[in-house]
Amino acid sequence: MNYPYKLPELGYAYDALEPYIDKETMILHHTKHQQAYVNNLNGILENHPELQKLPLEAILGDLNVIPASIRQGVIDQGGGVLNHTMFWTMMSPRGGGEPKGALLEAIKANFGSFDAFRDQFTQTAKKLFGSGWVWISLNKDGKLIMSTTPNQETPLSEGMKPIMCFDVWEHAYYLKYQNRRPEYIDAWWHIVNWDQIDENYRKAE
Ligand SMILES: [Fe+2]
Repeated sequence: MNYPYKLPELGYAYDALEPYIDKETMILHHTKHQQAYVNNLNGILENHPELQKLPLEAILGDLNVIPASIRQGVIDQGGGVLNHTMFWTMMSPRGGGEPKGALLEAIKANFGSFDAFRDQFTQTAKKLFGSGWVWISLNKDGKLIMSTTPNQETPLSEGMKPIMCFDVWEHAYYLKYQNRRPEYIDAWWHIVNWDQIDENYRKAE
């Protein structure tokens, strides 16, 4: 993604993920929360032409390129732009079920079985304190790693290649699920876009 940043297309209608993710949450999440990250990031980078030339992935992949005075702002707002852009592709009205092929084999090799993987991911999301994300990434050795980040941080900044992300900020579920984060997580498995995650895996390998 490149400056000036724009709100990305969702790729489906706001109500397409019903009943698992409600229309109102999707509208707010996309047009208010992510739009704010877009606006704030553009504002922060307005007087930084050296960073405007770099793709956002490169900036967040090497935080040392960011002047100290704006570094935290770029981490927060830039992560908010990039992470949500990826998150929308993690979901599909035709999602759910289980992964296939090379991705499934990699999941089995690293986590034992798909059920064990899903359980571990679910528990990790339930336990994440405060606002943040759950990730599946490839590390430098090509191994699948499950991790969390606080706030809008991304594993890109730790030298990993994220292939799957899950937003566990309250703004992602509070309207429909209130404080019941476990229900949101259980619902999310019905719309996970395994085709996209498989594609991400093959590109990252
Ligand atoms: Fe979010």
